Amino acid sequence: MANAVVIGAQWGDEGKGKVVDLYSKYADVIVRYGGGANAGHTLVVGGKKIVTHLVPSGVLHGAGKLCVLGDGMVVDPKTLLGEIAELKAQGLLADDRDLLVSTRAHAILPYHREIDGLRERGRSAIGTTKRGIGPAYEAKMARRGIRVGDLCRPERLRELIDHNLEELSAYIRYLGGDLPNAGARSAMADEYLGYGAELERYFGDGSRAVHQAIRQGRHVLFEGAQGTLLDVDHGTYPFVTSSSTLAGGACTGAGVGPTEIDAVIGIAKAYSTRVGGGPFPTELHDAFGQRLREAGAEYGATTGRPRRCGWLDAAALRLAVRLNGLSGLAITKLDVLGGLGPLRVCVGYRLDGKVVEEMPQDLCDLERAEPVYEELPGWDGALGEARQLDQLPAEARRYLARIEELLGVPLALVSVGPGREETMVFQNPFA
Ligand code: GDP
Ligand code: IMO
Ligand code: MG
Repeated sequence: MANAVVIGAQWGDEGKGKVVDLYSKYADVIVRYGGGANAGHTLVVGGKKIVTHLVPSGVLHGAGKLCVLGDGMVVDPKTLLGEIAELKAQGLLADDRDLLVSTRAHAILPYHREIDGLRERGRSAIGTTKRGIGPAYEAKMARRGIRVGDLCRPERLRELIDHNLEELSAYIRYLGGDLPNAGARSAMADEYLGYGAELERYFGDGSRAVHQAIRQGRHVLFEGAQGTLLDVDHGTYPFVTSSSTLAGGACTGAGVGPTEIDAVIGIAKAYSTRVGGGPFPTELHDAFGQRLREAGAEYGATTGRPRRCGWLDAAALRLAVRLNGLSGLAITKLDVLGGLGPLRVCVGYRLDGKVVEEMPQDLCDLERAEPVYEELPGWDGALGEARQLDQLPAEARRYLARIEELLGVPLALVSVGPGREETMVFQNPFA
């Protein structure tokens, strides 16, 4: 019996979808525990690409694997129905019992998306995905949220929509938005009750289902979304998402105790990327950054925005090791660095005359801090065919060994292409 968490160790888009898909072969239950459709997880199998935003990335493995949308998520029911329909059209999710949406997850309503979009036009813009994530989590924390289960309770839903919009009216006006009148509110409630009716067959108790699976000795894989540096408590606040993206978030978001978790795999690209605003000290603003973007096809899986690209930041990854208690490290996109050498790795930060080993978390410190780089030789040629470390050029092996040494965490996996087969696995938490 083993249960493992897979999380992003950087700013998201590390390749969580690919890694979760790989490990899902050995897992029985795959659980998303936080975030919503701000996530975009890409799976490439047999040359075919599928992007999931809400449904866990274990969905490709066919019947019998339970995919859970956990209590800690914020679920846009319309987006979820669209995703389910797309998956079904591809012959996936044929058995409705393979998907469970926890009724305690929160629902995203049109006014959450509207507020998110309006805010992004103003001074407080941070480059969100405009999926309504922040406003939905705000409502949850303010204890005004609408839970997924409420989509099947007509009276309660109508009352909550009316009450929420009343409370938010001054704010929406302040942002320059339009307020729905009584008729539009009622139509909104009808629409969302319709989604509730369509989704009801998937509704259940996420935490209980996961607990039961664990008691039966089944393997549970907790799928992180976003990344460590986007965590609302420990990331580059305020340029973060609104949920707990760390491994610890799996416990609160899925409703399991920390003693149930046996392994935590952190995923990092062999370089760094970030979408949206906020500090990114190793960012490359030059033509080289553009080359990296093209080589890695670094365009957002959710919004299509070009991702900002830069050198690997081992000092930021040290934070991820500490904050998540990583037991293994998965390095993805090593192939992208081919022909781009010599390579630089940030190994620390110079702050007020001293060198610190971890990236400073406080924004004011980070503004003054300067990355300290180490240069490593690059390599030429494609890596996609490599299936063992000794099939990699010596320089690529050295690059990996140096990362392992800087972080003090063993390599769990190395990915050399988007395909399932383009991978070397050294640790399988379920084996
Ligand atoms: P996620 O949000 O962490 O699941 O990552 P995304 O799917 O948003 O972005 C990762 C992108 O990199 C996807 O397009 C993947 O298909 C791709 N990818 C994953 N691993 C590799 C790899 O080792 N090499 C290359 N070239 N692409 C990869
Ligand atoms: P996956 O799971 C990369 C970023 C947004 C923005 C900030 C806040 O695919 O790795 P939000 O819409 O969450 O309020 O936006 O967080 N962001 C992501 N960046 N990958 C993601 O998910 C992200 N989810 C949110 O770009 O900077
Ligand atoms: Mg992504």
